[in-house]
Amino acid sequence: MPADLVIRNARVIDGSGSPPFTADIEVTGDRIVSVGSAGSGKHEIDAKGQVLCPGFIDTHSHDDGAFLRHPDMGFKLAQGVTTDISGNCGFSTIPNEPGREYMPGDISGPGAEWTDLDSYFQACMAKKPAINQAMLVGHNRIRAQVVGLERRHATADEVIEMRGHVARAMEQGAVGFSTGLIYEPGRYSDTNEVVALARECTPFTGIYATHMRNEGDKLLEAVDEAMHIAREAGIPLHISHHKSAGKRNWGRVKESLAKVDAANASGMDITLDVYPYTAGSGPMWQYVNLDAIDIEWANGVMIANCPDYPEFEGKMVPDIATEHEWTIEETVRNVLTSERGRQVICIHFIIDEADIETNLRHPKMLVGSDGIPVLKGNPHPRLYGTMPRVLSRYVRERQVLTLEDAIRRMTSASCERFGLVERGLVKEGYFADLVLFYPATVEDLATYEHPKTEPQGISMVIVNGAVAYEDGRHTGVGSGQMLRYKR
Ligand code: ZN
Ligand code: CU
Repeated sequence: MPADLVIRNARVIDGSGSPPFTADIEVTGDRIVSVGSAGSGKHEIDAKGQVLCPGFIDTHSHDDGAFLRHPDMGFKLAQGVTTDISGNCGFSTIPNEPGREYMPGDISGPGAEWTDLDSYFQACMAKKPAINQAMLVGHNRIRAQVVGLERRHATADEVIEMRGHVARAMEQGAVGFSTGLIYEPGRYSDTNEVVALARECTPFTGIYATHMRNEGDKLLEAVDEAMHIAREAGIPLHISHHKSAGKRNWGRVKESLAKVDAANASGMDITLDVYPYTAGSGPMWQYVNLDAIDIEWANGVMIANCPDYPEFEGKMVPDIATEHEWTIEETVRNVLTSERGRQVICIHFIIDEADIETNLRHPKMLVGSDGIPVLKGNPHPRLYGTMPRVLSRYVRERQVLTLEDAIRRMTSASCERFGLVERGLVKEGYFADLVLFYPATVEDLATYEHPKTEPQGISMVIVNGAVAYEDGRHTGVGSGQMLRYKR
């Protein structure tokens, strides 16, 4: 029987971190059936000059809503991403009460018919998504459902109710529990509340993934809190988009990584992720206290999406201020108090380039885009460029990582952390999530000016054995699956 697909003469980087080797690969159905020499195939590809590796895992996505709104997932697929981890920073689309509006400018997507992970996954599968998804259940979402947006600690009964939502998600196959403790409403929780919810992951050894309470002046205290929560719950810790924000804090990622190393040496299990850009991005209102606007911060802000002032999109706040003869404070205020001000997404330049390299060199560091899939306006280029940017800028140009090590982090190491079974290696019997790319030319082309640009050099992406992307063309095959933790 000929294989469904044969890829010949590929330089295989198998995801384990081992050196490359040349091989022919056979794929039948959704699996890799042989690695070495191949017989004939119904469909044959000559991959001479190209690297064949496992599909990339975007360990930090906010694509829960995008799986329903943009099931082609073009911005991820074209990067070679075959699996998204969604539900990050405490924002997940579960639990859900149909018809309920959760948060103004909720980045997770519109309320709809699903109620829990099972029914959300069913809704996704009905859209035939291009890539796979696994999900964390988010604290902000659960708290918004149970406590609302009130600025107070939860009562004992509310904590019990919230724990029930974590438990239900874990039973249905969530990867773990995520928080975004700088954001509303999660920031009103104390550490004990988070511990109580995280403990619901313990029977599943699900992970605690956190956008920590502080990534600037109080970074180290926030790392202590995150480690305390994971230790109390007895589960692995994953620190999201590790950074030291604000110029006065640059360089301090070394101190927080030292804390991580010490904790790992004492028996904890901590990993992290990073995006390869010096700007962050998120809902602008969440970062601003209108009574005390931080001018230094505002000077480094670009408007990404602004429904009431689309003409501001792609522009820096100081430039908008000059144009309109507003002060910086007036500019921030006018943007945020506009009718749909809570939907405004900003990009803020808060990260040191040297810290990105320090992060990427750390042995426990994975890669996550943190892309926000709002396609109107000028999204942060990480949505389209993260994976190829690691390969071009940090592997080929700056040689921060070897190609094998970068791919290991973006594939098998990520699958291990997020409980994705039989994925992340080019290996017989594994799911055929695969990428073919040209190592000398692969490059992100998305910029802050032109963010919605697909990368170059990625020639083919295969998802569960089906060709989903080929030479710049999205095939629409829709072969993505919903993945359950360690199943
Ligand atoms: Zn975050
Ligand atoms: Cu995030």
